[in-house]
Amino acid sequence: MATAGKPITCRAAVVWEVGQQYSIEKVEGDVPKKGEVRVKLASVGICHSDLHAQMGYEENHPFPTILGHEGAGIVESVGEDVERFKPGDLIVFTFESYCGDCDLCQSPKAKNCRKTTRNSFHRDGTSRVSAKGKALSQLNALGLFSEYTVTSQYNITKVNPAADPKILCLAGCCLPTGYGAAVNAGKVTPGSTCAVWGLGGVGMCVIMGCHDSGASKIIGIDPNPKKFQLAEGFGATHFLNPKEVTSVPETLSQMCKVGVDYCFVSVGNLSAMEEAFNSSHPYWGKTIIIGLGETGATVNVGVWDLLYGRQLMGTRYGSYKAVRDIPELVEKVVSGQIQLEKLITHRLPLDKINEGFELMKTGESLRSIIDFDLKE
Ligand SMILES: NC(=O)c1ccc[n+]([C@@H]2O[C@H](COP(=O)([O-])OP(=O)(O)OC[C@H]3O[C@@H](n4cnc5c(N)ncnc54)[C@H](O)[C@@H]3O)[C@@H](O)[C@H]2O)c1
Ligand SMILES: [Zn+2]
Ligand SMILES: [Zn+2]
Repeated sequence: MATAGKPITCRAAVVWEVGQQYSIEKVEGDVPKKGEVRVKLASVGICHSDLHAQMGYEENHPFPTILGHEGAGIVESVGEDVERFKPGDLIVFTFESYCGDCDLCQSPKAKNCRKTTRNSFHRDGTSRVSAKGKALSQLNALGLFSEYTVTSQYNITKVNPAADPKILCLAGCCLPTGYGAAVNAGKVTPGSTCAVWGLGGVGMCVIMGCHDSGASKIIGIDPNPKKFQLAEGFGATHFLNPKEVTSVPETLSQMCKVGVDYCFVSVGNLSAMEEAFNSSHPYWGKTIIIGLGETGATVNVGVWDLLYGRQLMGTRYGSYKAVRDIPELVEKVVSGQIQLEKLITHRLPLDKINEGFELMKTGESLRSIIDFDLKE
């Protein structure tokens, strides 16, 4: 492509200070260094984790910053020593790296990679993008609310070119996170009962995973009743508004005979996490935490509950090795088994990004996505 090997000026949504709105800026993007790729964005989802980061949940996330971690695009150019990718490849970004060589990549138990950076800069400690002369951090070393981005070759995965790049962003976070929480982390068994707290994009993918695993009852729990009809479309069979009952665990124990087999928490709310644990079956119930807490957040659970059989676990990225496993999930999208487009309620241009976050906060959207013009 004509831009290869040269710095790029493009538009990006920058958050200058913690808690501030997004501001559309002209940013200067570097050429990809050794082992890096530059990608032209096709679509980026607005995930609640971006909102948590904007509000300062992660103490080691520096500002000014470009957020955005759920995206897909087309490789524009590659740096030295990049052999697996070439310009024109359709890729999905991953917020956990996969180098294939480190002890974590090689362990079937771990889902992480030593090459993942945890401070939103690249492995050499620098950024590839700046605005008004200031270096900008890039969330998860991705920073996808931008027309172009530079990232490590270990943070992208090549997928079936027949997939639609305009919906594929959701394969970068909410699909593997939610679907994997049910089928891979929780390992829901046929005929079991499931309850899902938080019916956003992630929660809907949990419901899809519970449904595909053959759960007999899938209870969607959300204080926003507008989400119930949507959840039914993904396989939820029952609904509960926590504001309408005196005790969620008691109500669920009546609905599920003693307790729920699998409780998923896809909302960043600590009391919902404790409520879920206390709603799980006392002898074998499993609670799977997906929603984030601020750095250092803790939950209270009873030691004797654990001794008798309740289990508690967390999952990041659906406990997949994302680079390795996302292409398989994309095959389910291409074959029509997973209908990702049903999750998208709003498509917005980059300059309407603040509106996208408002739609999430007010509960009007399920998933809003930023739709980039691939022709420009
Ligand atoms: N573990 C991971 O790898 C991972 C990946 C992606 C997102 N997340 C986290 O998952 C969570 C959900 O993300 P999302 O993008 O789907 O969010 P979202 O904002 O689209 O949806 C959250 C839903 O939770 C509901 N809710 C609020 N309070 C509730 C309560 N007390 N009980 C039940 N429901 C409640 C809201 O009404 C909303 O429908 C966020 O915390 C996000 O950061 C984690
Ligand atoms: Zn996300
Ligand atoms: Zn590794």
